[in-house]
Amino acid sequence: MSCLDFIPVRIATLMPSSHIGVDLYQAEADCEEFVLYRGGDYPLTAKDLERLRGRGVEHLYIARKSQAVYRNYLREIATASDGNEVPLGVRTQAVTEVVRQILQESFSEDDIDKTVNAASQLGTLTTEILTNDQFAVKDMLRVLHHDYATFTHSANVAFYCGMLATELGFSDEDVEDITAGGLLHDLGKLDVRDDLLRKPDRLTELEFREVRMHPTLGFKKLAHRDDLVEGQLMMTYQHHERLDGKGYPVGCTEDEIHPWAKICSVVDVYEALTSNRPYRKSLPRQKALDIMNREVGKAFEPELFRCWQSIIKQS
Ligand SMILES: [Fe+2]
Repeated sequence: MSCLDFIPVRIATLMPSSHIGVDLYQAEADCEEFVLYRGGDYPLTAKDLERLRGRGVEHLYIARKSQAVYRNYLREIATASDGNEVPLGVRTQAVTEVVRQILQESFSEDDIDKTVNAASQLGTLTTEILTNDQFAVKDMLRVLHHDYATFTHSANVAFYCGMLATELGFSDEDVEDITAGGLLHDLGKLDVRDDLLRKPDRLTELEFREVRMHPTLGFKKLAHRDDLVEGQLMMTYQHHERLDGKGYPVGCTEDEIHPWAKICSVVDVYEALTSNRPYRKSLPRQKALDIMNREVGKAFEPELFRCWQSIIKQS
């Protein structure tokens, strides 16, 4: 079998003594060779995991054809009803991994049905986790990936939207919808040329104009659907609007901007500042908050920003 026949699984998602049901392999010689590490019938022990971590191993591998089995395992871990059995760190890792996989797949196939479906699944999963008493924001912040890719950014924004909405006291149902909306907010970027999104240099005026089309493009993609609510559409359409009217695509102000879009705008900018970009390294949390603080009342709703700031500072 070649390296294309294997996919990596993160050690952090593996629970000791749980049956994943697939053979686990270790990669050798720069992923040229894969050696059986543990047969599917034999569970990993806590010692095994400790040893692997001690050796700096972050991934084991499974055969690509077993991907569905691993995904089921992740789902079980992510939604396990007894929070005591699955440590929250593993649980949140499992959730982000499920979401990453589904999103990566649906974004790369440009399949809107799949993406909307993934968004609603993420909404449900996240709400379950956020309403779990043992939930710690810091667990979530620790496991979110911070590389630059539209689907990673979208998944992070979705979680952040869920956190902020929960803290603001929205109902579970709204938190689900807001989280799912967060996942969809940048959908229009799928229609923007990839080289523009990855360009390390300053964009020209014309290129900027193209990138700024993404809220409208996303809105058009989703507007006809009856499985989304207005707030979610507005998150897609208005997440780059500013209170002072200097945003895009319309330049609307204050009350003309949907409250959910205002939530999305705060966490979107925070996520962008704290993750690595082609043109900039990630900023520390405090630095990002300081930069955003200058825009409070101009770009961001003061109450929302303060609430987000307190979430980040607590964790
Ligand atoms: Fe955006």
